Amino acid sequence: MSVLRGQFSSKLGFILASAGSAVGIGNLVGFPVMASKNGGGAFLFIYLLFIAFVCFPVMLAEISMGRASQSSPVGAFDSLSGNSKAWRAVGGLGIITPFFIAVFYAVITVWILIYLVQSAMGNLDVLANPDTFGATVSSPVMFAYLVPLLGVLFFILGKGVNDGIERAATILMPTLIVMMVLLIGFVLTLDNAFAGVSFYLVPEFSKIDSGVINSALNHGFFSLSLGMGILITYGSYLNKKENMVSSTRLVAIADTGVAFFAGLLVIPAVFAIDPGVNADELSESSISLMFSYLPQVFLSMQDFVGYFGASLVSFMFFTLVFFAALTSLVSITEIPIAYVMDEKDKPRREAIVYVGVAVMVFALVTTVSFGMSDFFTSFLHYGGISKSFFDLIYDVFYETILPLMGFVVCLFVCYRWKKHSMNEEIALGDSDYNDSFLRKYVGISLGTFIPVILLAVFMNNVSRIYFAHNLFGF
Ligand code: TRP
Repeated sequence: MSVLRGQFSSKLGFILASAGSAVGIGNLVGFPVMASKNGGGAFLFIYLLFIAFVCFPVMLAEISMGRASQSSPVGAFDSLSGNSKAWRAVGGLGIITPFFIAVFYAVITVWILIYLVQSAMGNLDVLANPDTFGATVSSPVMFAYLVPLLGVLFFILGKGVNDGIERAATILMPTLIVMMVLLIGFVLTLDNAFAGVSFYLVPEFSKIDSGVINSALNHGFFSLSLGMGILITYGSYLNKKENMVSSTRLVAIADTGVAFFAGLLVIPAVFAIDPGVNADELSESSISLMFSYLPQVFLSMQDFVGYFGASLVSFMFFTLVFFAALTSLVSITEIPIAYVMDEKDKPRREAIVYVGVAVMVFALVTTVSFGMSDFFTSFLHYGGISKSFFDLIYDVFYETILPLMGFVVCLFVCYRWKKHSMNEEIALGDSDYNDSFLRKYVGISLGTFIPVILLAVFMNNVSRIYFAHNLFGF
């Protein structure tokens, strides 16, 4: 373990960095659409319950693992298990997974960067053309943006925990909030915007079925950066004196708050432009919504604010999404870097070079899997459809391994590391924890129903993705 292990300078630094990690494309685009299509206020209510009762204990488990072991996932599973080889291998999965998530997320962030720059250059009309997205992702222009993006990413990471990760989050997160408030303020002044607000918020409990419950859970879990090793690693940078419970609660509130307010931006914007829109027209996929539908919405705003105003709104929106994506990308890429530093005893600079080169190589391969290379575009065939290299990474690491890791973390803290050790770690900065109801709840839930729920999500995802079959009727 490195003696010079970085540490967040304050509780706020940890909260901003972790919230920066958690807030991503899913919060800004995926969540609003999911909520408004699936029962509005009723969905929000269920989602809040999941965050509080299922996701929150898993967050505490991961953060306490990191802080107790002062290590990234491999070292954490290794030392807390009493050096078991098998658990160390499980930790290895917690390094490979973030690495590949970093690769596919970097590619998506490049798309956002292109839309941001093109909006600023006055090309909103081009972006609003439905064919533009497909043409962009399969064009060599991608490389011109990928290289500088990775440059910025590794520059931030190269500066370390304090001057890099924490400082970036301290600048980007408040800017993100300000831009979001400005955009919401603007959108709500448009005619018909309130039809969107009521579509988003009026509860319809009849829409809640097992499928909706599954997606609320899936989304909450992923949104909070769970199962990715991020909270283990960031926990290892959290000072032992800090109150982990209150910090974690604020991270969960920030993530959920941004998702909630994004709904007041995206859905009213759509209704202002197209008051007759119905739920089916809103695509469930964040990607197609963000890159083909929203640019059309922004372009239509020229009737209210002129082409320049519409371009400005589009530019601000993509900058907002870009900042959200960049802080997530920073957090996920830090995991393999921390691994090289912790386990291979390399200085940060060297770790940056290894991980940087590896991310670059795989990001190039992923980029050409959108049409530039036939081999990587039709890479494999499973679940009844042909899949690209990008699809493969997304399916295997995002949809399959994340819930599995969540499941494993629950079992690990309860039955290997043991609850009392976890409780001691949590109580370090929070003297009330030992006598709290929360301690009882966390212990019981992590040892019983939370792993069962995560295993069910895992099994359903495996069967749906690889065998084209929905296990539980959803
Ligand atoms: N909330 C993120 C999103 O909306 C998901 C996520 C959490 C994530 N942590 C991450 C994605 C780290 C990439 C890297 O996209």
